Amino acid sequence: MRFFPLEKLINLHDGYTAQFRIDHLQLLLFQRAGELHLIEATCPHRGHSLGVGDIRDGVIRCAQHGYQFAVDDGRLLLATEEACRGLRTFPIVYEGNEVGILLDDGP
Ligand code: FES
Repeated sequence: MRFFPLEKLINLHDGYTAQFRIDHLQLLLFQRAGELHLIEATCPHRGHSLGVGDIRDGVIRCAQHGYQFAVDDGRLLLATEEACRGLRTFPIVYEGNEVGILLDDGP
């Protein structure tokens, strides 16, 4: 496993939201109510960007069709059309003065 740094701790604050791309992974890192979350950046419904989604009270709402997901475990909370899978969520890793993600190095 390899550590991929995403952000310096000093830059994090409530309201922080940023997108990152690591290889094929599109990630959304955000902090709300003192909690830092790392999820996939595209909606599992039809792939709209969640970077413009509304995040509040532990729920992210996709701007495209209004599907809602829990930010802690990614479970689907509300579907306005057909159901879809939940969001992928990723553990945040702290290393030195940075936060990031641990990913496989590859084969
Ligand atoms: S693409 Fe996100 S709710 Fe449809």
